[in-house]
Amino acid sequence: MTVESSVELLPIPTPSASKFGVEIKGLDLANLSDSDFEIIEQALYEHQVVLFKNQQSLSPYHQYALTRRFSPTSTTYGHDNTTKAPTSILHPDLKTLPSQPQVQLIGNGFVSSYEGLTNVQLRHPHHRTFHKTAIPDADDLSVTRFYRWHIDAALYGADMQPPKVTTLLAVKVPTGRRQTLRYDDGTGDELDVPLGTTAFTSGEKSYDILTDEQKSFARSTKVEYAPHPYIWMSAAKSLPTGLGMVSENLEKPLEALPPIDDRDIQIHPMVWRNPVTGNLALQIHPSAVRKLHLQDGTVIDDLAEVRRRVYELLRPGIAPAYVYAHDWSEGDLVLFHNRGVLHTVCGAFGEDEVRMFRQCNLADTEAPVGFDA
Ligand SMILES: [Fe+2]
Repeated sequence: MTVESSVELLPIPTPSASKFGVEIKGLDLANLSDSDFEIIEQALYEHQVVLFKNQQSLSPYHQYALTRRFSPTSTTYGHDNTTKAPTSILHPDLKTLPSQPQVQLIGNGFVSSYEGLTNVQLRHPHHRTFHKTAIPDADDLSVTRFYRWHIDAALYGADMQPPKVTTLLAVKVPTGRRQTLRYDDGTGDELDVPLGTTAFTSGEKSYDILTDEQKSFARSTKVEYAPHPYIWMSAAKSLPTGLGMVSENLEKPLEALPPIDDRDIQIHPMVWRNPVTGNLALQIHPSAVRKLHLQDGTVIDDLAEVRRRVYELLRPGIAPAYVYAHDWSEGDLVLFHNRGVLHTVCGAFGEDEVRMFRQCNLADTEAPVGFDA
């Protein structure tokens, strides 16, 4: 579709039944007018994933500035200091750019110098460090899993609400092979994916395919997240689908966590309303959930039961037909609606395969709104 003479919006050709994603051509991201930005914002809320090709020269500042236009009152990186705790499961995966601390370098391999960072060792998350079971080493080059389905969000802290958008710029991408992604959950589901893909699923599709009874439950239920969730879950292990944790009492007791202020505990609706289209999206961070608050006031705090219910709701939406696995090229800039998709990294790289991505998102001051807001 041509929006104005030089700007084009092209659907991303996804093999999935869940058509989402759009490529925008013809905009200069370092010099965006207000009307240019409106095109991007509208596209993000309509299509959930927006791709710009050939953005190698976009500076960290301009990446930050673009990200911030979605949340003009925000200045803090989406995870703030929670990633710096040595026991946080996010800690090893993020290197902050000294010149633009809201932008993180993530990836794999040794980087001698990049944007003020020197001699950093990046480590692509591997499912064997997070899942209870793992693909056998002998198959590791050819077979992979979803690492951890998530929303980019601190999920603790009254002023650390989930970012509206995350921007991901592929700086260096090893030219790759493809891998078979296995669900390993007894269904036999698998997916052919590019090496090191980022997989997305639309929260709107995940909601749409629920039964009427499930929709009604999801619309009226709230999710309470664990305080300091990435430290809380650090000793626990994930299910093979990356869609939540195994319940074996390995979560850290609350008294072993940093100080907790009850006002900072986040309780969100299960279903979030798209601010532009009004569509509803099933948005739950499955590994950080701790309690469910039902409409009648009942609180379910049996963790295994909480996880069982959440898994049942989310699993249909990650079926192979609904997953979009982006095939990264250097220079790809992807903006995703962090309040309308779940996403996960996949894949396993060798030591010598260098991959560099710049990621930016900003903690929001406004909480997501639910069905009845
Ligand atoms: Fe993420």
